[in-house]
Amino acid sequence: MNLDLHVNGRDHHLPDVPVWESLLSVLRDRLALYGAKNACEQGECGSCSVMLDDEVVCSCLVMAGQATGRRVRTVEGLEQDRVCAQVRRSMVEKGGVQCGFCTPGFVVAGTGILAADPDADDETIREGLAGNLCRCTGYTKILEAMADARETLHEDAS
Ligand code: FES
Ligand code: FES
Repeated sequence: MNLDLHVNGRDHHLPDVPVWESLLSVLRDRLALYGAKNACEQGECGSCSVMLDDEVVCSCLVMAGQATGRRVRTVEGLEQDRVCAQVRRSMVEKGGVQCGFCTPGFVVAGTGILAADPDADDETIREGLAGNLCRCTGYTKILEAMADARETLHEDAS
């Protein structure tokens, strides 16, 4: 099928895309956007997280055709986003990054949480990140980074 996608502010016309191809595959293999990682391909790890409109989704579970007419943003496309920029900074400063494989997914999911609710409490953040797995950090530093991002965004806004 022919596929029209709007990704990171740009329109893409992609011919001959199999109907069963996932959004993750299209992003990585056809658009060379490697920020969303392919780890489990079963919706279990969150490493492939992207924003579909304002919703965080596992792109491995979304058929590419389901993304037509919607705004797709990957971690690359969130580069200029104020909330995302702070989440990234806090992840680095608070040591929420070790091997980094899971990090883009956490950054996208964390951005989605704070964009939807700048006052998200620790429990809400924890629940919001429950679908993202990390093998390295033990999560404590990631959660500290998210709390730091929330506080810093508040300070910047006041
Ligand atoms: S690769 Fe999509 S959830 Fe793991
Ligand atoms: S930093 Fe290695 S999997 Fe999370």
